[in-house]
Amino acid sequence: EVKAKIAPSMLSSDFANLASETQRMLNSGADWLHMDIMVSLFFLCCYLCPEPMNPEVVATLAYAELTTGHWGFFLNSFYFCAFQIPPRGGQVSLHLWKIRRHFVPNLTIGAPVIESLRKHTTAYLDCHLMVTNPIDYVEPLGKAGASGFTFHVEASKDNWQELIQRIKSLGMRPGVALKPGTPIGDVYPLVEAEAPVEMVLVMTVEPGFGGQKFMPEMMDKVRILRKKYPSLDIEVDGGLGPSTIEMAASAGANCIVAGSSVFGAPEPAEVISLLRNSVQK
Ligand code: DX5
Ligand code: ZN
Repeated sequence: EVKAKIAPSMLSSDFANLASETQRMLNSGADWLHMDIMVSLFFLCCYLCPEPMNPEVVATLAYAELTTGHWGFFLNSFYFCAFQIPPRGGQVSLHLWKIRRHFVPNLTIGAPVIESLRKHTTAYLDCHLMVTNPIDYVEPLGKAGASGFTFHVEASKDNWQELIQRIKSLGMRPGVALKPGTPIGDVYPLVEAEAPVEMVLVMTVEPGFGGQKFMPEMMDKVRILRKKYPSLDIEVDGGLGPSTIEMAASAGANCIVAGSSVFGAPEPAEVISLLRNSVQK
């Protein structure tokens, strides 16, 4: 039998009063505190030189009546381009970088906040990493005092074995999350590995923001997982509250993340106990 774990998502809390907000949730009966760690910086990658010129770049070059030797730049949402103005009749060579975006369009908290919070509470900090390179965060979060480290399967295609091992070696509990568009089969190898994840987080909204609408069609994933792995911790995250908990609980989810429904309620304790009762029924 798996145990119910109710995890208020601190993304919906008052970040300026994080310590007292976590205490308020623990006093209201929370088992875990769900910490959403997201990064949304743009970064440049893939040095391609030269690359077939796209019409916009050509148009910019045509207007660049600058002095020979000067650098020109061009930016659109896909490329960052730098070029040096050649002597008359000379060849332009473009230095093109492709712009890639991180996992989600939002930026939240990181290891320094976890470290500060850890000084105020012994609670289980259930960290959900919505980042493109989760491995970079293992050591900082482990040292900061995170309890669970849940990374996305979409962001760990070629290094999940190493990732799981490093998470465990830093004393954290490894979990894997999947976005709504990702097939459930993608996580089986991680659950069945020699060093397996100990939790699967089925996203029930597109990751990025609190307060979105629950996607009931994700319950098929939860049912399949529960049938295959009777004692696995299965977490659901996004749009959970009194009106959706029945669907999640009856499908077999036992770890329930809830942000806006708990923080938006006049009595968070009532919502937390309602969520718990549905899971334990
Ligand atoms: C979304 C986060 C969730 C979010 C849930 O990217 O992973 O944890 O805070 O918030 P609600 O419960 O409001 O949907
Ligand atoms: Zn989350």
